[in-house]
Amino acid sequence: MRAYDGPAIETEGLVKIYRGGTRALDDVSLEVAPGELFGLLGPNGAGKTTAIRVLATLLRATAGTARVVGLDVVTQAVEVRRRLGLAMQNPTLDAFSTGRETLELAGRLQGMAAAAVRRRSDELLELMGLSSVAKKLAGTYSGGMKRRLDVAAALVHCPELLILDEPTEGLDPQSRTALWEELERINASGTTMLLTTHYMEEADRLCSRVAIIDYGRIVVDGAPGALKQGIGADTVVLQIESDGAADLGVVAEPAGANSDGAGAGAPSDPVVLVRRLLEGMVAPGAVIAHPVGVSLAVPNANAAVPALLRRLESDGLRVTGLQVTQPTLDDVFMKYTGRRIREEAADQPLLLGW
Ligand SMILES: Nc1ncnc2c1ncn2[C@@H]1O[C@H](COP(=O)(O)OP(=O)(O)O)[C@@H](O)[C@H]1O
Ligand SMILES: [Mg+2]
Repeated sequence: MRAYDGPAIETEGLVKIYRGGTRALDDVSLEVAPGELFGLLGPNGAGKTTAIRVLATLLRATAGTARVVGLDVVTQAVEVRRRLGLAMQNPTLDAFSTGRETLELAGRLQGMAAAAVRRRSDELLELMGLSSVAKKLAGTYSGGMKRRLDVAAALVHCPELLILDEPTEGLDPQSRTALWEELERINASGTTMLLTTHYMEEADRLCSRVAIIDYGRIVVDGAPGALKQGIGADTVVLQIESDGAADLGVVAEPAGANSDGAGAGAPSDPVVLVRRLLEGMVAPGAVIAHPVGVSLAVPNANAAVPALLRRLESDGLRVTGLQVTQPTLDDVFMKYTGRRIREEAADQPLLLGW
């Protein structure tokens, strides 16, 4: 039940300069509407935790203002704390309390009556799939169960706004998916949510809106779909092979991964070849080398691919595999910052032969 109809979060020119001079937040202005599942996406060190600590009244900004459900985080801090639920990056659970005791303590700390706390704890244990381990010590829980218990503890007092700092950090893929589903359920039942993440798949899958933060600045915000559409092109990876047409002299081996094709003049270079064959259809600069062949940047690739293939194959080039990928939020991050968020190796593209 929402008591306030304005923005759930509203910040204006937030700046945080830590002692030592790090400018962790640099003019952050954000607005989160009630009911949103809003994501703050950025690499490590971008300022996500700092922003959350300011919103949760745990840290004073150097400049700027922040309101949570209409309340000022500095002058109305006590009231703000009552209206939000917070789960920080590292859950601070007591290993020697059971799941149920953890929730009951959280409720009592929020000033709830004993009977209400018991009812709410039952409900949350059920919601988070923890009923069967409610009487076990939290110390014996798996990583995913600890996270779910921590989120449940943040929800005990039915906050209007739930703030989660990197909720799935360190979880295995299965626990991550399970937690995503729970977070979606919580949001669908009316709780506005702000979460931070450096996993772009997470922001993409979960969030109705995302703000990308880098070096303390919001570089762009919008719905994930709209941000990706703004990239303007899909990627088509072609695995190619010579069919023996002597004059083409296409190499069957993968092309050098690090050649961008610029200035490549060898007639056997697939990039040069594909550029020539697709002249008039695809701009030369949109064709670059890829470990298995070439990669093309093509607007609306699904519609364009048949004609591209006809042209290539009629000229004797055999395409042995093809993959079309839509832009990701990582491409969006790249567009606005010139760097990639993804630190781990990119998922290997699955090439579908036919
Ligand atoms: N208590 C602190 N004192 C000084 N610098 C800090 C402190 N906390 C964070 N920082 C610095 O501020 C920047 C933003 O950090 P943080 O908000 O934790 O980013 P994120 O959560 O996105 O990884 C980083 O450069 C970090 O080193
Ligand atoms: Mg952080």
